[in-house]
Amino acid sequence: AANNLVNIVEVGPRDGLQNEKGVIPVDVKVELINRLARAGAQNVEVGSFVSPKWVPQMGGTPEVICKMERLPGVHYAVLVPNQRGLDNLFALLSQSNASPPLSDEISIFTAATDAFTRANLNTTTAESLTRLEPVARAALDRGLRVRGYVSVVIACPYSGQVDYKRVRDVAKALADMGCYEVSLGDTVGQGTPEKVAEMIEEVKKSVPVENLAGHFHDTYGTAIANVFAALAQGIRTIDSSVGGLGGCPYSPGATGNVATEDVLYALKDSQYKVAGSQLGGGTIDLDKMVDIGWWISEQLGRESVSRAGRAIRSR
Ligand code: HMG
Ligand code: MG
Repeated sequence: AANNLVNIVEVGPRDGLQNEKGVIPVDVKVELINRLARAGAQNVEVGSFVSPKWVPQMGGTPEVICKMERLPGVHYAVLVPNQRGLDNLFALLSQSNASPPLSDEISIFTAATDAFTRANLNTTTAESLTRLEPVARAALDRGLRVRGYVSVVIACPYSGQVDYKRVRDVAKALADMGCYEVSLGDTVGQGTPEKVAEMIEEVKKSVPVENLAGHFHDTYGTAIANVFAALAQGIRTIDSSVGGLGGCPYSPGATGNVATEDVLYALKDSQYKVAGSQLGGGTIDLDKMVDIGWWISEQLGRESVSRAGRAIRSR
């Protein structure tokens, strides 16, 4: 039977908040994570162990993961850019005897172009892969799940249209390191459904589609269309951000991820079912997500930019 169950990876607390200029209190981040998990989210990216000089907003991640609830059945992932980040995570895991552990998954990341990898990780793509390989191995040895990201899978803010063969090769390299899933990031948000389909067709030649995810920023308003293009290609995991929060500090002008509320709404009457925990009624609760999207946006001093979130709130 066709698998029509769609997994959502909620990246709001990480991708959503990393680009915010103002200081966001740890307690607000903790409440955001707790609310997301209680709404049924089973995969939450909660922060980053990156250099606070590079991304100051994620500097509080150790406190956040110590204070957040950890519900059984929920994966709490953190971004790790290098060995130093992994060492910091391991030190924290060793200090705490928490069960379930503070975090059970790391996300490693690189990009399809050297120009973007240079801006985001201060090295080339090939060198980043060389550095990430032992990081992935050490995390796997410790029983963590490892997820991989390829950024700029469609267009690069520094070098333009991307060669999808490069995307394929980088995705394959991450899969070969033991990433159970590789998320394909349209960082800039310039993707169109046609291009997304073409890119995924290329990547599928080297990585099974079951191991791929789609990560679409909504700069040009095509993110929902791109989600459906990815689903049509067989992808069943979509990264999204409550309230449409987000953006990468090294992708100037790019807006947030596709809003989780918009994905949930668009999938409502479709052949697909969104996976979620019992707390969300076996799926992710749309109304709760709308409330969370408004709540966090108001914490940031603005309105929710989720289209579904705005429409549902005003009816
Ligand atoms: P670097 O400057 O080349 O690193 O940056 P370095 O090794 O020379 O270290 C510089 C300083 O940072 C040193 O401190 C290190 O100890 C420290 P100092 O001696 O100057 O006091 N340092 C660290 N501190 C804490 N945690 C660490 C760490 N590593 C070094 N892990 C580095 C290299 C990788 C550190 C840097 O480039 C970095 O942190 N990059 C991360 C950038 C980032 O987080 N970007 C956003 C996430 S990716 C994204 O948003 C895309 C995605 O959503 C998908 C998509 O949309 O495409 C995933
Ligand atoms: Mg992103």
